Amino acid sequence: TTETDYFAIDDSFAGSLFNPRNDFAHKGNYGKAVIVGGSYGKIGAAVLATKSVLKTGAGLTFTLAPQCGYEILQATCPEAMFIEGGNRSIKCFDIDKESTVGVGPGLGTQEETKKGLLTFLKDYQSPLVLDADALNIISEDQKNLQLIPKRSIITPHPKEFERLFGKTENSFKRLELAREKAKELNIYIVLKDHHTQVVIPEGNVYYNLTGNAGLAKGGSGDILTGILTSLLAQGYSEKNTCILGVWLHGKAADFASEKHSKESMLPTDVIDELGNVFIELN
Ligand code: APR
Ligand code: MG
Repeated sequence: TTETDYFAIDDSFAGSLFNPRNDFAHKGNYGKAVIVGGSYGKIGAAVLATKSVLKTGAGLTFTLAPQCGYEILQATCPEAMFIEGGNRSIKCFDIDKESTVGVGPGLGTQEETKKGLLTFLKDYQSPLVLDADALNIISEDQKNLQLIPKRSIITPHPKEFERLFGKTENSFKRLELAREKAKELNIYIVLKDHHTQVVIPEGNVYYNLTGNAGLAKGGSGDILTGILTSLLAQGYSEKNTCILGVWLHGKAADFASEKHSKESMLPTDVIDELGNVFIELN
C-alpha cells in the first residue's frame, strides 16, 4: 500500500475552500444542475435533493423525474424546471452535456430505469454525482463499475458500499478498500457515516467533523446529493465539492439540531439551515 495522508475537515479548512459570490454575477456563472430521481412513492427524495441544489446556489436547476412527480415538484420547488423522464419511474435520461448531473435519490430499480441509466452512463462521460438507487443498479454487475465516468463522485452509505465493492471485516478495512477503488476507478468516494470520509483517487482521506445523529433519518442523504451536485455545477473541483459539501451538510444539521433537537429535526430543517451556514461562511 502507498502512503496515505489523513486530514480533518474542520470549519477553517472548509471556509478556505468557499468562493463567495461575485457582485457582477449572473445565473450563467453558477452552472446548470440536473437532479435525476424520484419514482412513484419516492418523489419526496427528488424534492429534497432539488431544494438542496437550489439552496446551495446553483444558477439554473432542473429535476428529471417521472410524470407522477410533476405537480409535486412544481409546487414545492417553483424555482426548478421539470423534465419528464417517464410515467411512474424514469426510463428516458435525456440530458445535455453542459449540465451537471446528480442521479439516484428515490430513483427506484425498475427494469426500464436500469436500462436507461446504464445507457446514459455510457454516453455521458463527464463527472457526475451518483447516489442511492443509481449505485444499487450499478452494483448488480461488476462490469457496470467501468461505466462510471472518471472523476465522478459516489456517495454510498455502508450498505451501498458493500453492495458495490463487497464485504469488509471492519471500518478500517472498508476505508482501505475504498482507497483502492477510488484509485483504480479514478473516482471520489464519499463514505457516509458518523464522520463521513472523503476518499480521493490520489489516496488521501478527509474526515468530516460536522454532523450528528439527527441525520439518522430517511432523506438526509438526498440532501447531500443535492449539495454536491450544486457545488460541482458551480465550478468547484470534484475534490473541493466533496470536502466542502460534506462539511456544509453536517454544519446545517448541527444548526438544525440546536434549534429543533436531534429527535425532531427533519431533513427539511437541515435544508432550511443552509442559509445560516452560508451567512457564517461569508
Ligand atoms: N452522525 C452523523 N451523520 C449521520 C449519522 C450520524 N449518526 N447518521 C446518518 N448520518 C448522515 C450520513 O453521513 C449521510 O450523509 O446522514 C446521511 C444519511 O444518508 P443515507 O444513509 O443515504 O440515508 P437516506 O438518504 O435517508 O437514505 C434513504 O436511500 O440510500 C438509500 O438505501 C437508502 O433506503 C435508503 C434511502
Ligand atoms: Mg441514501
